[in-house]
Amino acid sequence: MSTTLYERLGGTEGITNIANDLVDIHLANPAIAPRYSNSDPVKVKNGAATFFIAGTGGPNVYEGQDMLATHKGMNISAHEFMAVLDDALEALEKNNIGQREQEEVLFIFYSMRSDIVLV
Ligand code: HEM
Repeated sequence: MSTTLYERLGGTEGITNIANDLVDIHLANPAIAPRYSNSDPVKVKNGAATFFIAGTGGPNVYEGQDMLATHKGMNISAHEFMAVLDDALEALEKNNIGQREQEEVLFIFYSMRSDIVLV
């Protein structure tokens, strides 16, 4: 029997921890931190956590817009996109997520590239 990625990432609690770490890592990453200079970290963490809870097979708790609408007009570069993927891997490592799950998360994020980069 297969378990959802949501369950393998530790459910709502595990994903919330990963999302909180991810946003903290973003805010310390000079490649992308300026993008969040006008953001409320609590709201960004909540948006990241709920998006990923919903997208990995957990409860449908995300209330934000889709990725194209969210990032449209930001003119995000491929370099910034890579920086976000690097930060995601760091957050997953920090939370002791296994390689298989890291690969799945990376693939999900990568598949959203065309809705985020230079849109
Ligand atoms: C696969 C990669 C990415 C995913 C899955 C993602 C996901 C999200 C989500 C879920 C939100 C919150 C939407 C909401 O709550 O309404 C968001 C907002 C945002 N994202 Fe991304 N994002 C990605 C890449 C990027 C990149 C590369 C940048 C630029 C460095 C970026 C910059 C932002 C900014 C500035 C916001 C608005 C924050 C705010 O509301 O104050 N994102 N993103």
